[in-house]
Amino acid sequence: MPAKPKFYLTTPIYYTNGLPHIGHTYTTVVADVIRRYKRMRGYEVVMTTGTDEHGVNVERAAKNAGVPESEFVAKMADAWRALWEELGLSAEEFVRTTDLRHVRTVQWLFKLCRENGYVYKGHYTGQYCIYDNAFVNDAKPGDNCPDCGRPTETLTEENYFLKLSAFQKPLLDFYKKNPDFIQPESRKNEIVSFVEGGLKDLSITRTTVRWGIPVPGEEPHVFYVWFDALNAYLSAVGGPDYEKRGMWPADLHLVGKDIIRFHTVYWPAFLMAAMLPVPKQVWAHGWFLMDASKMSKSKGNVVLPRPIANMLGMDALRYFLLREVVFGQDGNFSYDALVTRYNSDLANGLGNLASRTAAMIEKTFAGKIPKAGKLEAPDEALARETQAGIGDVLDYFEKMNFARALESLWTVIAAADKYLTTQKPWSLGDSEADMQRKANILATTAELLRIVTVLAHPVLPDSTAKIWTLLGQPGSVSAVELDGLRWGQLTTDAPLGKPQTLFPRVEKSEAIERIESMANEELNPSTAPAPAPAAATSAGSGAAAAAAPAASEKIAIEDFAKVEMRVGQIKTAERIVGADRLLKLTVDIGTEIRQICAGIAQFYEPDSLIGRKVAVVTNLAPRKLRGVESNGMIIAASVGPEGRPVLAGFPEDVEIGARLK
Ligand code: MSP
Repeated sequence: MPAKPKFYLTTPIYYTNGLPHIGHTYTTVVADVIRRYKRMRGYEVVMTTGTDEHGVNVERAAKNAGVPESEFVAKMADAWRALWEELGLSAEEFVRTTDLRHVRTVQWLFKLCRENGYVYKGHYTGQYCIYDNAFVNDAKPGDNCPDCGRPTETLTEENYFLKLSAFQKPLLDFYKKNPDFIQPESRKNEIVSFVEGGLKDLSITRTTVRWGIPVPGEEPHVFYVWFDALNAYLSAVGGPDYEKRGMWPADLHLVGKDIIRFHTVYWPAFLMAAMLPVPKQVWAHGWFLMDASKMSKSKGNVVLPRPIANMLGMDALRYFLLREVVFGQDGNFSYDALVTRYNSDLANGLGNLASRTAAMIEKTFAGKIPKAGKLEAPDEALARETQAGIGDVLDYFEKMNFARALESLWTVIAAADKYLTTQKPWSLGDSEADMQRKANILATTAELLRIVTVLAHPVLPDSTAKIWTLLGQPGSVSAVELDGLRWGQLTTDAPLGKPQTLFPRVEKSEAIERIESMANEELNPSTAPAPAPAAATSAGSGAAAAAAPAASEKIAIEDFAKVEMRVGQIKTAERIVGADRLLKLTVDIGTEIRQICAGIAQFYEPDSLIGRKVAVVTNLAPRKLRGVESNGMIIAASVGPEGRPVLAGFPEDVEIGARLK
């Protein structure tokens, strides 16, 4: 098999003085969507993200926290990495600017620039914004930073300079030869005029900053944050040995519009000075605004990703971020719009189409997708519409117009809804002709759904994987490439997966209230008490009991909302050797099978539990009990003086995975 073409894309490396908000999440989500899309198109993809850990801000933050800088940034980097993982956004490479591989790359780049005659020593006095780590061009003492509005400081230093002025012409020539280098077009014009206006040499080292990468043999010089940070893209894929990995130059740097100049002027100039290959494209997206201003912790208007993912699922957040604003432009973030889109496009749109199609197949064809016979005109029309839709969606993905790609895809979903409404398979009888007609309608709808699932996968990875299983399709949806999109490749006669709720409808005000209260708790952890689950048995019972408030103490609804409980069904149960009280259970909670340990062994025979529906706390952190991992908690009443556990139960018809409220 010929080697796959390579595609290397990056997010910015994020500052470690805070944790990700929706703005950072946006860039990383887009990168992940492109990564999945490119894989679908047959590429071997590497994505890099990471943390930008040097500079005065970190020095100050670490001092305030009373810890050494290295300890401070290590904790922050772990937190960023962990959150990306939790949100399903881990990249192939997570680069920290304190990594040795990165330090070596920065020092190597400097050496190359110096050997090529583009570095000299000089003095620089200017107004400096310590928040943005940048000298502010043309600012006078007393001026505020035009980007963040905070006061600048006057700074004079002995610095090493890079002859940026020498790259005015090479840069302009490069932009001309590579018209797609800066995207979108409007940003390109802005950068071209900036460079045409003349470039001043750039100081690339500092002596006033301690926490930075040392310039070898030139201490106390450390590298200027941008000379340091931009190199992360290269150090992530081999640094001085970049040729071995074959991923450089990068195909795409994704950035917010705030840092486009660094990426399209400084970065290519550094690389040109070092005579290294220059990246192929920089795409600058707009900002998500909150009440028309940029989010920042200091303004207290940040939106956090985790509470949204907890309440509506990460797919819902991904969908909203991509569908709501045109990529490249600014957009307002609103919980109201988020929940509206969730209910209309996901719960009523895709989710409903998938579950009603599966339910009809289940009922009419004993849970196996029927084979289509000869298609009739409406079936063929729908197939044609779907095929046209595929073309549109791919086209828009290529142009990074995600909003339009999703809009086109949802037009296909709407066409399927309309098709079902007009063809009314439910109104047909049991005659051979009617059964064949029903088979055609349902197979046609299922085929459309299969294609929609593949196309939606880059944006909705979790739910499309569920729909794929629901449709009983072989392999994994993430492995389907372009040729799998052709109409007519539906696997029929395979049993459908078990029914699942994909996007349960939510009540808007209640959902927003819950998201906001979880966000409040995350931003101000000390103000809210820990939640106290009811009498419960298993993974966390000891800890929960210890944290339980006195009977008279009230908790707020937000506290209760933090506990996610679902109906689960016990699949297996066995005793644990050496632990008299514990049973090891596997429990189906609708989205997955969990292993949970429960302290009920003295009161329940393992066999008597199989098939039983129980209440499960599903969002407890996993823990080990007697060396056995327990991932959740089964709810039980605690009865009598000996605290005999009596499991809470549900009637047969209560769906597995249903949420307890
Ligand atoms: N550390 C530098 C980047 C160095 S890259 C070599 C930095 N870090 S940052 O933590 O401030 O992250 C900036 C990036 O986060 C922006 O470029 C953008 O990608 C994203 N966003 C931060 N706030 C945002 C919004 N409100 N809206 C959209 N994206 C924004 O700059």
